[in-house]
Amino acid sequence: MSKDINAKNKDMNTKTAAAQGSQGARSTQGDSVADAIIKTQDLVKTYRKGKIETRALRGVSMEIPRGSFSCIVGPSGHGKSTLMHLIGGLDRATSGDVSIDGISYAELSDNELSELRASKIGFVFQFFNLLQNLTALENIETAMMFNKNGLHSAKEQRARALELLELVGLSEKAHAKPYELSGGQQQRVSIARALANDPEILLMDEPTGNLDSKSEDEVLDQLLYIHKTGKTIVIVTHNTEVSDRAELLYEVRDGRLNSVTRKGVTL
Ligand SMILES: Nc1ncnc2c1ncn2[C@@H]1O[C@H](COP(=O)(O)OP(=O)(O)OP(=O)(O)O)[C@@H](O)[C@H]1O
Ligand SMILES: [Mg+2]
Repeated sequence: MSKDINAKNKDMNTKTAAAQGSQGARSTQGDSVADAIIKTQDLVKTYRKGKIETRALRGVSMEIPRGSFSCIVGPSGHGKSTLMHLIGGLDRATSGDVSIDGISYAELSDNELSELRASKIGFVFQFFNLLQNLTALENIETAMMFNKNGLHSAKEQRARALELLELVGLSEKAHAKPYELSGGQQQRVSIARALANDPEILLMDEPTGNLDSKSEDEVLDQLLYIHKTGKTIVIVTHNTEVSDRAELLYEVRDGRLNSVTRKGVTL
């Protein structure tokens, strides 16, 4: 993490505290949530391929509270993964902005954005994305290698990776390669890997999309447990077992935020 981002971070924390002090904490999604860790502002993403334009996002403004368990739902092809990629800084918006803890992506260089991502965000994808020739333990360790602020010695990294495997209940599979693991176990390794740099935010795109119902339950239990440790969890899902557990549901339709509900109540 560069000094620049740290400075922006500190500045923002002070501003957030000041804002809360003067306005008091507001708890609904209306114009502002009490403590939003993620904000998007009029986010637009248009993909262009030759003469073909796809307007995947048409102006999404949303706020996701710190420490929440939120789901993004909506029909296939309506922009959910696109939104997730932009929130995660994996891709740039056509216009509009994303900010995390008040740090605006639009103001960051590509390198700064990568640093911010490495330190604040963990990703879990539908197809696990584990490196097939590495063991569970090694897959987790690789995630720590690129984090400048992270653990340095190989010994520290190993200890942390073992701790994370224990957290997801897979200590006995530390030396197994992905093909020796069930789908649910592979996804739990992916979750452990996403937590490697102790990010505040976990972003997941269909984390239970390729799992049978038993593995799905395993992964959901794991996520609820991790949520209790204070992480902000945002999940794109078609799975109602998962979205039923969400504190906040953001529905994306036709590239727009169609509704936000909290425990069934529209905000
Ligand atoms: N890299 C890309 N290049 C061109 N078009 C894209 C690209 N990625 C997504 N799209 C298009 O943008 C639109 C939104 O896609 P997106 O993947 O965000 O949908 P989704 O809501 O995640 O769908 P699903 O539920 O099926 O995963 C779709 O029309 C899709 O074809
Ligand atoms: Mg998708």
